[in-house]
Amino acid sequence: MVDTRIPPVREMDIDRPCAARIYDAFLGGSHNFGCERAFAERLERELPDISETYRENRAFLRRVVEYLLAHGVRQFIDLGSGIPTIGHVHEVARRRTRDFRVLYVDNEPLTVAHSKPLLAGEPRAEIVRADCRDPKSVLNSPEAAELLDPAEPVGLLMAPVLHFIPDSDDPVALVETYRDALVPGSHLVISHLTGSHAPDEMRILAGHYAETADPLQPREVEWIEKLFGDFEVVRPGTTFLSDWRPEPGRTTAKQPYCLLHGGVARKH
Ligand SMILES: C[S@@+](CC[C@H](N)C(=O)[O-])C[C@H]1O[C@@H](n2cnc3c(N)ncnc32)[C@H](O)[C@@H]1O
Repeated sequence: MVDTRIPPVREMDIDRPCAARIYDAFLGGSHNFGCERAFAERLERELPDISETYRENRAFLRRVVEYLLAHGVRQFIDLGSGIPTIGHVHEVARRRTRDFRVLYVDNEPLTVAHSKPLLAGEPRAEIVRADCRDPKSVLNSPEAAELLDPAEPVGLLMAPVLHFIPDSDDPVALVETYRDALVPGSHLVISHLTGSHAPDEMRILAGHYAETADPLQPREVEWIEKLFGDFEVVRPGTTFLSDWRPEPGRTTAKQPYCLLHGGVARKH
């Protein structure tokens, strides 16, 4: 009998824009195709400052990784990693220490294929092709066994991936499964698209993504906050991403739409 809890394997589809390469296009990377660049142009015609949203997420990720390193976390799992370039987790970590390990996880085949050569010279980082809706395929993968120490705290990054998981796949139960699998001292990091602050812009963004290989599901701030369960949410709490421990002098003024909400929480 087919196990319906195991998500179907994602096939390669280079005719439709996909989230990883759209993100890369907005960050100014070189791992994207004409269909993603055309998508970015169409989106920017309606939301002229939307590239800030992508950059803001990457800046949040950088501040989070620095925070976690400063709090003793040395191993990271990045669910829905996209293509690890332009200041991704291992690049941030290796500026601070030689003692780190990063397991990148993505289910988009070409994203994984593009990522492997980028990581070839970095023994402390690896990418696994897996669907994060199937936690065993991530946590029991040979790559996880090779890189990660199961007894040590982990920084589990879901930043952002959950808005690509529809309600029918029960993202709340999925996050709970991951929370249960973490050892004390681990941290859960979430960023998620929301229409709570800017509903009109969010509708436009979701409308454009409906045509892609990665349709998305924005959710209310209260829904996102509950994902941390009984973990201790670290200061300043869950916020619009630009407000999460901003670098001195940085304000939300550059970020016109406020579409991403998130935070970091620690398991006791
Ligand atoms: C916005 S992109 C990458 C963001 C990246 N984590 C960052 O912060 O820079 C989201 C990624 O999630 C991946 N993704 C979507 N659904 C997924 C799933 N069910 N399992 C694994 N990866 C998934 C997409 O292929 C895409 O690369």
